[in-house]
Amino acid sequence: MALTDIRVPSYIGTRTRLYSGDMRTVLPSITGGINELPDIDLYVTSPPYNVGKGYESKATHNQWLKDCAEWFSVMRACATESGRLCLNVPLDKRTPSPVPVYADCVEVLRQSGWHVQQTIIWNEQNVSRRTAWGSFMSASAPIVIAPVEVIIVASKHKLWTRKTEKNKVSTIRQRDFVYWTNGMWTFPGESAKRIGHPAPFPIELARRCILLYSFADDLICDPFAGSGTTCIAAHRTGRESIGIEIDETYVHLAAGRISGEG
Ligand SMILES: C[S@@+](CC[C@H](N)C(=O)[O-])C[C@H]1O[C@@H](n2cnc3c(N)ncnc32)[C@H](O)[C@@H]1O
Repeated sequence: MALTDIRVPSYIGTRTRLYSGDMRTVLPSITGGINELPDIDLYVTSPPYNVGKGYESKATHNQWLKDCAEWFSVMRACATESGRLCLNVPLDKRTPSPVPVYADCVEVLRQSGWHVQQTIIWNEQNVSRRTAWGSFMSASAPIVIAPVEVIIVASKHKLWTRKTEKNKVSTIRQRDFVYWTNGMWTFPGESAKRIGHPAPFPIELARRCILLYSFADDLICDPFAGSGTTCIAAHRTGRESIGIEIDETYVHLAAGRISGEG
């Protein structure tokens, strides 16, 4: 599946396309109406956090912030005027040094022109993190780790309200809307081993974001598609989607998972 032309999808399902390559070049080359696809209505994604995962280059913190600025600017430029973003990141990280990832991402999103509107706390119930005590029973250097991640919800422009246009219908159930608009979501994380990717998020995370923040015929995109979780959730909720992934191994993995959906 080696590609010479990034505009050729690596995988096309009925309403799902996967592209192989760097989102900074692929996304602007396939969207915007002048190309094959319109602009993006909703991003549901999780960028590399620079924590030394296999798919990450060893960047300094400053370089990672610059990368984030580039990624978020490209995403904003390729979003519709009412485009939205759900960005899943940890609250903070300790590797290779302590960094408040959430705070940094909010700052860079704002600098990139996004308007941060809401934050959802995802209580992923990851109890294994409780083993990192630092100095146990001593004030010398205790380490506190919140076993949660966040989903930063932002919009391209300040105006959050989307006009209810003809043919734009919401497909969320009443009880889910009531339950999910309480911004503390509790469900378990996904197993990296089971999926075969170092940092997948669960389908439930993407499913909730899509049903809450998009209409039925919206175009959903994950520019850091990994194992294709967002595209699977889009398929299950009846949305069209595109995924972009730089690592060909994961493009194959994602294509396999999406094909398995039937
Ligand atoms: C945190 S993981 C996303 C995992 C995904 N949410 C899932 O459920 O499988 C980030 C992914 O972004 C990919 N990536 C890193 N830089 C990229 C870039 N510039 N363009 C496209 N993909 C990139 C990595 O290879 C990795 O698979």
